[in-house]
Amino acid sequence: MASYRIAALLKEPPTGQKVIITGWIRTRRDASGFSFLEINDGSCLANVQVIAEGTLDNYEKEVKKLSTGCSVEISGVLKDSPAKGQSVEILADSIVVVGWADPEHYPLQKKRHSFEFLREIPHLRPRTNALGCVARVRSRMCHSIQQFFHQKGFVQIHTPVITTSDCEGAGEMFQVITGLEGQKQLDSKNLHKEFFGRRAGLTVSGQLQAEVYAQALGSVYTFGPTFRAENSNTSRHLAEFWMLEPEMAFCDLFCNMKLAEEMLKYILADVLENCYEDMELFNRFVEKGVVDKLRHVIDNDFIHISYTEAVEKLLESKKNFEYPVSWGVDLQSEHERYLTEQVYQLPLIVTDYPASIKPFYMRVSDDGTTVAAMDILVPGIGEIVGGSQREERYDILLGRMQNSGIETDEYQWYLDLRKYGTTPHSGFGLGFERLVQFVTGMANIREVIPFPRTPGFAPC
Ligand code: 4AD
Ligand code: MG
Repeated sequence: MASYRIAALLKEPPTGQKVIITGWIRTRRDASGFSFLEINDGSCLANVQVIAEGTLDNYEKEVKKLSTGCSVEISGVLKDSPAKGQSVEILADSIVVVGWADPEHYPLQKKRHSFEFLREIPHLRPRTNALGCVARVRSRMCHSIQQFFHQKGFVQIHTPVITTSDCEGAGEMFQVITGLEGQKQLDSKNLHKEFFGRRAGLTVSGQLQAEVYAQALGSVYTFGPTFRAENSNTSRHLAEFWMLEPEMAFCDLFCNMKLAEEMLKYILADVLENCYEDMELFNRFVEKGVVDKLRHVIDNDFIHISYTEAVEKLLESKKNFEYPVSWGVDLQSEHERYLTEQVYQLPLIVTDYPASIKPFYMRVSDDGTTVAAMDILVPGIGEIVGGSQREERYDILLGRMQNSGIETDEYQWYLDLRKYGTTPHSGFGLGFERLVQFVTGMANIREVIPFPRTPGFAPC
């Protein structure tokens, strides 16, 4: 007698054999003299139907009291099912109730719950079909990212979560302080008493440290949690999100864009191939046509336009945007979405942004007006990738840092990379949750991370 996860059981059903499964009751339906139980164990979307006959020892006392959410261990013979909608079922010879879930209090009842309601019960929401599918698809996407980069010979680097450099220079770092003592004002007079003897915070990006390793190992990537204390309560912002950041030495902006496009297509194709059942749920109930949307992206070249062309397109549109457009302003989500949804209906790579709106580390053009930046925008979301070729010239980088008001003494290590064997190098950051959103069609980013953190919200 062997134990099975339901996904494996349904993939190659050992019909006629005795099997053991464990899981949670989704529904119980009573007929005369027996009951049907639907069991889910989280390994896949599908449930297994179990027939519990009245002859079971605990039928009256326990089986007939089972309700949604109870955990059980079931053994029995796997048989071909005569019923529609399932190929096999288990005729139980033992049902052990592992844990009860009082139906008076268990919040997940049979009806569909809104995603807003489910956010209030983050400890139970992964037991729903939709959130279970998101968790499996997210996991597969992590796997395909690792697979993609390993096949290409990239080395994974674990960049620090606690850092003393603010990569984006946008002042959105959470500060790290110790205990009650740390609650005192962190003024420069007593900083030396702090744990690190200086100001430290949670990383907003692992890029600067990834650059260190790229300048030694060539092609590297870092993939981990990233923190931004930006007060944005939107459907695309989190205070804690995961970012994937490849970084490559001897690679210009063109090579960077090529890698990003190839990687995105690889992940989408891998999910469609390996998460068919979960994707079908999204396709039917979350974003109709999401599977075709992903195929369209896989089958077509991304569009390339410069920031200047993007601004021209936006001005030509004569649309009344909330934020007016002119050369030199940053593109807002409404602009990004107009371009990728209305004008091109494809992922769009926008390059060569004004130097004044981008961070110090991006490589400046000869006339100093633009930087070798590239953002990838996708329909329904806007920006999912932000990347650039880095400034590899010592004097120019130093000048940019000074102009941005950066304490250059604290970044001497970063400048040193340009002093000792500098290379043209590039990289990008993929907002992982935004990609999971694009793949699943989930309207709100809070549904694609297990425990979302947003301003005023971190319940467990
Ligand atoms: O464009 P960003 O700020 O780029 C960087 O941090 C670079 N240092 C990356 C690099 O070149 N290695 O952020 C990268 C991506 C964005 O395109 C967006 O998808 C995502 O991270 N992102 C967020 N996702 C969720 N919530 C937030 N608050 C986000 N801020 C950025
Ligand atoms: Mg960006």
